[in-house]
Amino acid sequence: MTNLRFLHIFVTLCLLAIGANAFSINRIENRAADTSCAKTPNTSNPDDDSNNKNVKINYSTQEGETCTQEQKGEIETEFRNAIAMVNSAKADWSKDGYEDIFFAKTAQKMPKYKETVHDTLTRITEMLDGTVNAKDYTLTVTCAGKAKSCAKFVAFMKQADKTHGTLNVCDHFFDKNIDRKQERYVDTTDNRLEQCENGSLDLRDAQRSRAGVLVHESIHTSYAMGGPDPGEDIAYGLDAARLLAMGTFDRRCGNGPAMRALTSNKPLCGKTPQDPKTEDGLCKSELCMQNPDSWSFVATGIWFSEQCKKKIQLPQEDGGKTNAGISSKGKPNDNSAESHCNGYSTGVADFPFD
Ligand SMILES: *[C@@H]1O[C@H](CO)[C@@H](O)[C@H](O)[C@H]1NC(C)=O
Ligand SMILES: *[C@@H]1O[C@H](CO)[C@@H](O)[C@H](O)[C@H]1NC(C)=O
Ligand SMILES: *[C@@H]1O[C@H](CO)[C@@H](O)[C@H](O)[C@H]1NC(C)=O
Repeated sequence: MTNLRFLHIFVTLCLLAIGANAFSINRIENRAADTSCAKTPNTSNPDDDSNNKNVKINYSTQEGETCTQEQKGEIETEFRNAIAMVNSAKADWSKDGYEDIFFAKTAQKMPKYKETVHDTLTRITEMLDGTVNAKDYTLTVTCAGKAKSCAKFVAFMKQADKTHGTLNVCDHFFDKNIDRKQERYVDTTDNRLEQCENGSLDLRDAQRSRAGVLVHESIHTSYAMGGPDPGEDIAYGLDAARLLAMGTFDRRCGNGPAMRALTSNKPLCGKTPQDPKTEDGLCKSELCMQNPDSWSFVATGIWFSEQCKKKIQLPQEDGGKTNAGISSKGKPNDNSAESHCNGYSTGVADFPFD
């Protein structure tokens, strides 16, 4: 029921938004190529200020879910990277045009959109650095590396109630030296930064960094969302998140049903009220505001571009011009059409990290 209420609020806000000024669209421009990469913080140097920002993490002490010292070190490094990432996204959310790719115009036209973005990003940093008031939210980190959901994910967020969340970090989060092509592969943020030195880092890789994962997980809390409900995985992965912003992502088609299976088969899109037994549907584009990957792609795009001193491009395989969601026969915009999935592709199936 809470989801329906949230949807309802969105719809209402959208109706209110009609007539608001359209945002100008900043096209992505190729800046002069600069193949040098900014030095990443030296994680083993205690004098490196950029990396010394304190993070206060509340680790669980419950048997079976404690983190080892080594894991804690890696988690803290990535919390700091994620905080830096979110801060840089907050400084200029529109920078380099990722916003226009992943945040629908319908969302951008919502009243208080800029404030919502700013406040959401601020709350994420508070949650990650531990400065959030314990009355408002407590985040506990667990390392139950082989928890059931770890078969599918590298990390996941569970929210006990509006003020308590648990981030579980799976063994796969710490995987090292795996085949980069593996769908599951999520690399350390430092390794991803190294990849930008030779120009091979695209936005999909960048987001599949541990810091990108943490930004995604943060959206799965009601604290970050500043409302009763945590964000939900409406559209996983780069192609699906792009389609969502374009208003053409249909959870009945292509990879949609597989994504739905990963989110307890809840129908998150389409007509309301919904019968959970029946169908999902075409997702309203403004749902990008609730979709963790939408936030994570913009934040990783901005931060990695800054760190690499070079704009991170969309993946080569579709040259940034995917045909996903463009139907040759069917009409993806027609929610009732029998042929809603004809010729419809949701693009590359990205392995979800939670
Ligand atoms: C990082 O800092 C450590 C400790 O100060 C130092 O030994 C090491 O050479 C530094 N590494 C780089 C790449 O600067
Ligand atoms: C730390 O986590 C435990 C277990 O979830 C929780 O009971 C406690 O309130 C948390 N403390 C703080 C300061 O967040
Ligand atoms: C760039 O670096 C990555 C990761 O180390 C490597 O897999 C790739 O082959 C390199 N590409 C080029 C063009 O050197």
